[in-house]
Amino acid sequence: MEVVIVPDAASGGELIAEAMAQLLRRKPDALLGVATGSTPLPVYQALTAKVRSGAVDASRARIAQLDEYVGLPADHPESYRSVLRREVLEPLGLGMPAFLGPDGTAEDVPEACAAYDRALAEAGGVDLQLLGIGTDGHIGFNEPCSSLASRTRIKTLTQQTRVDNARFFDGDIDQVPHHVITQGIGTILEARHLVLLATGEGKADAVAATVEGPVAAVCPASALQLHPHATVVVDEAAASKL
Ligand code: GLP
Repeated sequence: MEVVIVPDAASGGELIAEAMAQLLRRKPDALLGVATGSTPLPVYQALTAKVRSGAVDASRARIAQLDEYVGLPADHPESYRSVLRREVLEPLGLGMPAFLGPDGTAEDVPEACAAYDRALAEAGGVDLQLLGIGTDGHIGFNEPCSSLASRTRIKTLTQQTRVDNARFFDGDIDQVPHHVITQGIGTILEARHLVLLATGEGKADAVAATVEGPVAAVCPASALQLHPHATVVVDEAAASKL
C-alpha cells in the first residue's frame, strides 16, 4: 500500500484526476469505478477541467457505480445513479450507455446484485476504483464486520451512516433509506488499482486503522492492505493520526 500525504483536498483531487487521465491516455475505454459522498468531488472537478482543456479525451471512458440505495426511484435526486450522472457523467460529456450500476429498484434485489457482479466481469473488470471512507472505516457501503470476501449484496446501514448521510436528505434521517446495494469487499479488491481518498480530521481514526491497523473486518478499508496496487491519498488532517 502506498500512502501519499497531500496538503489539501484540492491537491488530492488533482493527483487522482491525473492518474485517471494517464490511465485514459493508455486505455481510452478504461472502466473507472467511482464513489459518491463529498470527498471525491475535487477529483471529478479536476478530471472535468482536464477534459474541457483538451488535456485528456474521456469520450470512450466507462463509469461503474460502487453502491446504491435500495428503493429510491432511479430519478430521485439522491439516488447514487442520479448523483453520479450529475457529478461525473454529465460534466465529462458521457451518456448513460457509458454507465454500469446495480438496479436499486429491482424486485429481486439478490439477483440484481449478482447481475451487477456479472456485468462488471463481462465489462473486463474495473481498471481504477476510487474510494472514499466512512468515519467507521466503511468502503462503499460495507459497514464494519462485513466479510472481507463479500460480493455485491444488500446491506443494512448502521445508524451512524444514516446520521452521516442525512445531510443529503435535508438533514432528515427518516428520509435516508435503511437498505443499500454495495459492491462487496471481495468485488472491490478485484479492481486493478484501488485509490482511496480521505480528507479532514473526521477521517483520521479511520485512516490510521486502515493503514496501520490489522487487516480486520471491523475496519473494512483495512482490506486494501491485501491488494497489490492500492494507493491511499490523504490530506494532512486525515493523516494526523498516522
Ligand atoms: C457513503 C458512501 C461511501 C463514502 C462515504 C463517505 O457512505 N457510500 O462510498 O465513502 O459515504 O462520504 P464522504 O466522502 O461524504 O465523507
